[in-house]
Amino acid sequence: MANILSTSQRSQSLPSSPIRKLVPFADAAKKRGIKVYYLNIGDPDFATPQPVIRELKKVSADIKTVSYANSQGVGEHLKSWVKYYKDCGISITYDEINVTSGGSEALMFAVSATCDPNDEILVFEPYYANYFTFARLLNVKVVPIALEEKNAFHLVDKKQIEKKITKNTKAILFTNPNNPTGTVFSKKEIRIVLDLAVKHNLFIIADETYRGLCFDDKKSYSVLQVARKEETQRVIICDSLSKRLNICGARIGAIISKNTDVMSAVLKMAQARLSAGLIEQRIATPMLNNCLPYIGWLAKQYEKRRNTFLDTLENKLKLKIHRPEGAFYTMVRLPVKNTDEFAKWLLTDFCDQGETVMVAPGAGFYATPNKGKDEIRVAFVLEEKKLKRAAQLLSLAVKKY
Ligand SMILES: Cc1ncc(COP(=O)(O)O)c(C=O)c1O
Repeated sequence: MANILSTSQRSQSLPSSPIRKLVPFADAAKKRGIKVYYLNIGDPDFATPQPVIRELKKVSADIKTVSYANSQGVGEHLKSWVKYYKDCGISITYDEINVTSGGSEALMFAVSATCDPNDEILVFEPYYANYFTFARLLNVKVVPIALEEKNAFHLVDKKQIEKKITKNTKAILFTNPNNPTGTVFSKKEIRIVLDLAVKHNLFIIADETYRGLCFDDKKSYSVLQVARKEETQRVIICDSLSKRLNICGARIGAIISKNTDVMSAVLKMAQARLSAGLIEQRIATPMLNNCLPYIGWLAKQYEKRRNTFLDTLENKLKLKIHRPEGAFYTMVRLPVKNTDEFAKWLLTDFCDQGETVMVAPGAGFYATPNKGKDEIRVAFVLEEKKLKRAAQLLSLAVKKY
């Protein structure tokens, strides 16, 4: 009898991403001729900025060999990161940064550099669903700390966080501005996280993918801006150009730390994967050198999109919906028992005038069992006319379901 091959238990225990797992149903709906409005994923429809496109044309005209880049990153590109951080009021040196394939690789590097198997990471819940998968891959445990909608998902209870710290806790993973809640944490809240990290000797893995994308005149602070000099040693920033420069497909991010041990661990991992994309780093460089005006403009556009989408949905459903302060997502609680089934039904059974909408079911954004089952996460990344229609479709569907 042939031996049966089996994949690792670890890989078998990975969840499918709630953001992408319904894609086959969306593809099938499209094949049936149905137009799908995609609110499930943060893949914005803004055109990639002209300076990036211009550089892409220039590079494609000039390039002879698409070689590997340096493992740490292309020199000129690293300089542009340092310049961007300086523009944000944060002083970093070249040794304190390593370019990565998106913020996703930065997160994998950060968890790998700080945690051994069975170590624990505290994460504020609901959280970016892929954290769970990254941690699982490394046999690291995600310990959720529930944040409440009634507090707009802000940190109000230091003791509640402290209760979850055990001898295995190695890091606090802190997403600001937050996906999926859109919460922008204040300097005071960042101080709470820093004080806890100092008291319990923890790293802070700060996912600042959405830095600068804030609404209503709010401002997002980096953990590195709030940390005292001696505290910066425990801070690791995971960063990304995907959303800020509208180049999701270029896969460019960075990991930043003033801790030399962390950065030398990161460099070894970066060397093992050889390099991040050469062309992508080159085309992003001129834009990154002077991007704050664009990011300010982008934040204003998302604020308008948030208002259009939520005003329409609240009006149609007669529901109060959590209003995000930044990024471009929110969690929406619906009068539906199981949003996994509802989100699938939207693609398999529902349509209005040949159109439907795709959303991410909420449960995948929680580690706590049974949480998020009546919630969906939406990304308001489409132009306003489409968002209005998507909100109409969603409210029609809820009434029909
Ligand atoms: C909070 C957060 N972190 C990290 C990422 C990873 O982004 P990328 O790998 O495209 O940089 C995302 C993507 O949506 C995100 O929302």
